[in-house]
Amino acid sequence: MCGIVGYIGKKQAAPIILDGLAKLEYRGYDSAGMAIFDGESIKMMKSAGRLQALVDLSHGGDLLPGTAGIGHTRWATHGKPSDLNAHPHFNTRGTISIVHNGIIENYQALKLMLEAKGYVFQSETDTEVVAQLLDFYYRGNPMEAVTKVMHRVEGSYALGIMFSDHPDEIYAVRKSSPLIVGQSEEGCFIASDVPAILKYTRTVFYTDDQEIVKLTADGIEFFTVDEEKIEKEAVTIEWDANAAEKGGYEHFLLKEIYEQPETVDKTLSPRLKDGRIVIEELGLTDEEIKALRKIYIVACGSAYHVGITSKYIIEEMARIPVEVDVASEFRYRNPILMEGDLVIVISQSGETADTLEGLRISKRLGCKVLGIVNVVGSSIAREADNVMYTWAGPEISVATTKAYSAQLINMYLLAIKLATVRGAISDAKAAAFIKELNKLPEQIELLMGCKERMQKFANRYVGAQDIYFIGRGIDYAISLEGSLKLKELSYVHSEAYPAGELKHGPISLIDKGTLVVAVLTQEELYQKTISNIVEVKSRGAFVMAVTTVGNEEIEKVADYVVYIPQTDKFFTDSLAIVPLQFFSYYVAVGKGCDVDKPRNLAKSVTVE
Ligand code: AGP
Repeated sequence: MCGIVGYIGKKQAAPIILDGLAKLEYRGYDSAGMAIFDGESIKMMKSAGRLQALVDLSHGGDLLPGTAGIGHTRWATHGKPSDLNAHPHFNTRGTISIVHNGIIENYQALKLMLEAKGYVFQSETDTEVVAQLLDFYYRGNPMEAVTKVMHRVEGSYALGIMFSDHPDEIYAVRKSSPLIVGQSEEGCFIASDVPAILKYTRTVFYTDDQEIVKLTADGIEFFTVDEEKIEKEAVTIEWDANAAEKGGYEHFLLKEIYEQPETVDKTLSPRLKDGRIVIEELGLTDEEIKALRKIYIVACGSAYHVGITSKYIIEEMARIPVEVDVASEFRYRNPILMEGDLVIVISQSGETADTLEGLRISKRLGCKVLGIVNVVGSSIAREADNVMYTWAGPEISVATTKAYSAQLINMYLLAIKLATVRGAISDAKAAAFIKELNKLPEQIELLMGCKERMQKFANRYVGAQDIYFIGRGIDYAISLEGSLKLKELSYVHSEAYPAGELKHGPISLIDKGTLVVAVLTQEELYQKTISNIVEVKSRGAFVMAVTTVGNEEIEKVADYVVYIPQTDKFFTDSLAIVPLQFFSYYVAVGKGCDVDKPRNLAKSVTVE
């Protein structure tokens, strides 16, 4: 979703802002703009389309001189992508400039109120209302106007604000949208995410909801909405700026696929001590684990698919009932949560609005919430009772790969831990699972070798209209993720079905030559899925099977087979997903799609 960058300091602001916005491109956007204070007034440039259009328009920032400014990449919600709707937005007099990430829910009512007082609006955005409302309240004191606006607007926002009569200051506030603040000897920064400013500083402050930040060239001050000063501790970002660079790969997505062995290892190793699973951050006593009545898993997209895989594992391994919900459904379905139930929210970004709301509802209902989160200091990480981080590092490509793999690892560890404490499995069984888990990084590495084969196979399907994925149990969960990856990267229509469900309707879609990807990694379901392969084959389908080494007789029924190394049945998702990631990637590359920034998508979905 929208990206914000702001800078005030000793250097020229525009090049820093353009550079920062480029680092936030992964979030998804359709227009870009920036406003710079040039010593006399605030000058602005903006353009629909790619950031490069803004770079060209401003001659790399040279046409907007000045040492204080705010910039934005917009992902359209209210009003089409256009130059006019792009941010920054101004009050009518051009003296207050803002950039915004989020949605102002009561903007229509506020707009009517302001129009009645003579304000004239230029754009179709909800954001412009904030600029005009600031003007309405402004009497020369920025803090006063900002706090008054915060009391009036409803919804979510991260805002960067400049007042032309306070040229040495930038203000920023947030509520339910991400905003970080950075400081270096050269100046101070605001941004939607760390990669935007990592080139300039590793000293970062995480802002909380309803806090106000005042930045000058020399320092940063934090205030509550009641204008009381807050002391905040800086956090030092440990990861390297290179982690957010392509490092010679054609796309971030490809790089991130290749990073999976390391990611899995980094997520796994710290929680294995002397052959046992130790999850220090779990925050549940053995008594609480034994007393668990139910687990709810709440997430969106790929993280939701991790939830489905986890349900199969936790229920079978630990014998605890698990309900998995898409967060946007969970939040409105009045779930029957009881004190003592555990809610697990899974999120790479830690900012997904629906997942965050699911967390808040669960806490209000008295449940403990465990976050499985990748972005340190994100909203979900800060609001969950406990956090098990996935150590995937920055994931830049909009479509997730390595964070998904890391989420799976955390859920495996959790399942084994719960099962052991509840006596559902023996220590010896737990040790056997750990042994298998330890092999995963190497096995995933081995699967990198299927890249060329998947590329060749994918080339045949660049023109495909529809591709179906089928599987049973965990193989169904893998199919869901394989299908989502294909859809979002290559725009090829795709569906995933539980293999046994085909004959209840979807099989009518199978025609001569339709590609069906069948996933068969679950031994006890293997023959059942083979029967489903036979059914689609006899309707003309071309079948690619993903199965485990040793299942060679599948070649009698499938047209094309990809083998994964042997592992325990609970952990096959970590392996089977790799060839499917390569497949989606190469269909997308073959079609010339924008792999790292698929159309209409955003990395961090901060609106519901
Ligand atoms: C994954 O490839 C998607 N882009 C998307 O489904 C994503 O998993 C979903 O939006 C959830 O995001 P989160 O993990 O940051 O909460």
